[in-house]
Amino acid sequence: MKQDLLAEADAAQPPRTEQLGAQTFVLRGFALPQVDALLPELRAVLAASPFRRMVTPGGFTMSVALSNCGALGWTTDLAGYRYSDRDPHSGAPWPMLPEAMRTLAIAAAAEAGFADFDPDACLVNRYVPGAKMSLHQDRNERDYSQPVVSVSLGLPAMFLWGGQQRSDRPQRVPLLHGDVMVWGGVDRLRFHGVLALKEGRHPVMGPQRINFTLRRAG
Ligand code: SIN
Ligand code: FE2
Repeated sequence: MKQDLLAEADAAQPPRTEQLGAQTFVLRGFALPQVDALLPELRAVLAASPFRRMVTPGGFTMSVALSNCGALGWTTDLAGYRYSDRDPHSGAPWPMLPEAMRTLAIAAAAEAGFADFDPDACLVNRYVPGAKMSLHQDRNERDYSQPVVSVSLGLPAMFLWGGQQRSDRPQRVPLLHGDVMVWGGVDRLRFHGVLALKEGRHPVMGPQRINFTLRRAG
């Protein structure tokens, strides 16, 4: 009897994994069991390399503030986008990639069919209400055979999942606290972005969205 009820409850749940492309998946709530382990790791990373707003090669200050951990960190300035093994603010190496983040990303990649993910870079993005990220490709990495694993915490965001061309009309994908997105393979260079974050206050994260994205950069 109990079994039947449980089976019915399961059937009523929306699918936990959504497929957005041949090799693109949203793993709903995949990070939720790890949030308690991730938050102290994030705090330690940000104590060593605090969020800062960087300037694009075109001279615009990004609305999203960022930091990094791992052997390589993504940076931008007037000279261009690149990965660097040092935090340009401190001159010191970026903080090490913490264990729970790394384990989560490898598990999410495996769930999406990428068994050999070996991340060496984790970009941490902070969105406050109004912050957005315009359509772009992730193409500063050396090896496109490795996927991108993107973890969302805090306020919901409307993610734009585009195509191979900038002009392809993107699908709108709401990303919630604990969702993990994985894309790679034939979808590795698809355009994507994030609409301006709406006002709000998340019960765990407060008035912000934190996204961290793990990649193999070097
Ligand atoms: C990014 O493309 O680096 C950020 C994606 C996101 O914030 O969900
Ligand atoms: Fe990106």
